[in-house]
Parts: sequence; structure tokens; C-alpha cells
Amino acid sequence: MEKNIPNHIAIILDGNGRWAKERGRARIEGHTVGYKKIEPISLYAQKLGVKVLSLYCFSTENWNRPELEVKFLMSVPVEMSKNIQRYIKNNIIVKVSGRSDRLPKRTKEAFQKIVDATKDNTGMILNICFDYGSLYDISQAIKRIKEEDIEINENTIYEYLYTKDFPKVDLLIRPGGEKRLSNYLLLESAYAELYFMDKYWPDFNEDDLDKAIEDYNHRNRRYGGIKE
Ligand code: IPE
Ligand code: IPE
Ligand code: MG
Repeated sequence: MEKNIPNHIAIILDGNGRWAKERGRARIEGHTVGYKKIEPISLYAQKLGVKVLSLYCFSTENWNRPELEVKFLMSVPVEMSKNIQRYIKNNIIVKVSGRSDRLPKRTKEAFQKIVDATKDNTGMILNICFDYGSLYDISQAIKRIKEEDIEINENTIYEYLYTKDFPKVDLLIRPGGEKRLSNYLLLESAYAELYFMDKYWPDFNEDDLDKAIEDYNHRNRRYGGIKE
């Protein structure tokens, strides 16, 4: 049977800290191994035919972590931007979803550089969610809808979200053992299939993506209707 590849896959990159702790290493080392997975997993998703890959890399709540850890995480986009040529060459379009007003200047500039450099690519969209929180996104959407005084229906709010140009999430994957959404793509995942796994993100590999997609292929997506 032909495999059905989800148009939009979202992954919550969780478990970096525990991965490091289990090895007697500093949390930051888990983040280092973790962020290096972004590129190979993106390339593999693109190869499979995924249209949008959203990765939850820093939440609006992650500012509550120790200063040093936050500082390290703010440097991840700077490191990513050093590999900009590879994203260009591989035809990946990088987009960023999240607040930009609280980011350090160098983080913001690094994102801008990657987004600008890949905007004419035509392949998969890699949507990096950074200082992202669904509740913040929704509250901003409601504010704007109120200001513009437009009529609201079930779809209006989607048109104001960071993800307005993307298809809704088909498959949401969370490594790291937790079974919650942690303020991620709440509306966009209204009918997403959820896939939780114990493995930590730094150990996530191509096979894990295959397994999640395989599992997704056995789901019966009814959208409230009836399917025999
Ligand atoms: C995910 O790993 C990365 C971020 C949230 C930035 P964690 O740092 O949450 O790792 P655990 O959950 O503590 O193991
Ligand atoms: C969710 O992970 C955020 C990211 C992976 C970026 P957290 O580790 O912050 O979530 P909680 O605290 O376990 O819910
Ligand atoms: Mg975590």
C-alpha cells in the first residue's frame, strides 16, 4: 500500500536535559547534541515528501530556566546560521514562528539571515518555533481581530496565527516521555494525530520518523464523521 505522508509534521524537541543528565553531562550538552539533529531530520523529512516540518525549539515559558541555559539556547540560531549554505543548497525554506521582541539582537539577526537566504527556495518549509507559545499567538490574533472589528467564524482565528500559510498539523510527535502539548500549536493540532515516544530528542533518528509515519498510516482520521 502506498504510504500516506503527512503534509505537516510538528515535533516537540524534548528530553535534551534528561539525555545529558543520564550521561552525567551538563544540560547544555544535551541541547548541543539536540540542535545538531535539526538538519538531518529536516533533510530526511523533505526526502519523504513532508511539506511543512514545525520544530518546537524554545517556548514562551522556557525563559523561566537558569540564565546560562537560556543564553545557550539563544545561541542555537546563531550556530544554525553558520550552516546557512547547506539549507540553501538543500532547497529548504526556513520560517520562524514566535515572538521576536524578547530575543537578543544576535539571535534575531541570525534568524533574519536564515529566513532571507532561504526565501527563494522551493522545497520543504522548516518552521522553527522559537519563543513560541500557542496561547500568546491566539491572544495576539484575538487582539487584531478586535482592532479590525471583523466578523468571527470558526476559521477566522487561524488566519491570524503564525502558521496561517501552512496546512494544519497532521502528525504531532513528542519524544522525551511526556504526554502533553506544552502550549504547542493548540489550534493547528485540533485534528492532529498525536504520537508520543520515550526516547529523548538527542537520540531521535530517521527510523523514529519512519515509525511515527507508519503509526500515522494506521490511524483512522474521522474528523467527527464515520468511516467504515
Ligand atoms: C527540550 O529539552 C529543549 C527545550 C525545551 C529548549 P529539555 O531541556 O526540556 O529537556 P528535559 O525535558 O529537561 O529533559
Ligand atoms: C516544551 O518542552 C518546549 C520545547 C521543547 C521547546 P518543555 O520541557 O519546556 O515542556 P514541559 O515543561 O515539560 O511541559
Ligand atoms: Mg523538557
